[in-house]
Amino acid sequence: MQKRVALVTGANRGLGYEVARQLADLGITVVIGSRDLEKGEAAAESLANDRRMVHSRHLDVTQATTIQAAIGSIIDQYGRLDILVNNAGIMIDSETTILELDLTMFQNTLETNALGPLLLCQACIPYMQENNYGRIVNIASTLGSLTDIATPDSAYSVILSPAYRLSKTLLNGLTVLIAKELRETNILVNSACPGWVRTRLGGDQAPLMPAQGAETPVWLATLPDDGPRGGFFREKRPIPW
Ligand SMILES: NC(=O)c1ccc[n+]([C@@H]2O[C@H](COP(=O)([O-])OP(=O)(O)OC[C@H]3O[C@@H](n4cnc5c(N)ncnc54)[C@H](OP(=O)(O)O)[C@@H]3O)[C@@H](O)[C@H]2O)c1
Repeated sequence: MQKRVALVTGANRGLGYEVARQLADLGITVVIGSRDLEKGEAAAESLANDRRMVHSRHLDVTQATTIQAAIGSIIDQYGRLDILVNNAGIMIDSETTILELDLTMFQNTLETNALGPLLLCQACIPYMQENNYGRIVNIASTLGSLTDIATPDSAYSVILSPAYRLSKTLLNGLTVLIAKELRETNILVNSACPGWVRTRLGGDQAPLMPAQGAETPVWLATLPDDGPRGGFFREKRPIPW
């Protein structure tokens, strides 16, 4: 069997970097997508060694042309794309309530956290269908769970970030719809919440290190053919939408 090829967006740092490391440790060829090419190249160089195959491509998830170019060049070089981890994400509205939310801030958040992942799915799935193999992991968040939002005594109820929350709700909706569309195939699409992870986005009070946060996404990215599809997982267990 040929080596599997994975694309991890926003993997020049944080959780994505750790997902890239763990996938490469499993013998998967990993391509780091990065909106700053130099940062992506530096990250790939720092991860690559005799055992790990890690490369990088310029990929801004809000720029469709960079998505097309990155995937085209992955197919040119490797002839396949087996795994997509939609990891790139922003949280820029932690100080605002839904009633004060600025529309531009909302649009920017949706573009990065939900519309970009949709474009990536649309671009990658035809290549996965060619091999009847694919694993897609959308890195969502418990903050986007409608069940959690509607639970008054949730541990997360003090967190505002309405645009971020709703972008992850939308991303979860994409997971369900795309998984439904692909139900007759060996392409498994799932959402993951990594937990609260110590990264630039998660902050330095977060209890989990990136290596721990990466475990559920990496598990979903490497599921066996009879693994779950169309679900939302944290700590490798289903959680409510
Ligand atoms: N940390 C947590 O506690 C936590 C919890 C739940 C879910 N998540 C999710 O986990 C994912 C990774 O977050 P993180 O904690 O690792 O955050 P992070 O450290 O802030 O890293 C975010 C990554 O996304 C990239 N990115 C942002 N906008 C992009 C764009 N338009 N195109 C391409 N890349 C872009 C960043 O690139 P630059 O370096 O160029 O900015 C960076 O590499 C996000 O989807 C986040 O919502 C995190």
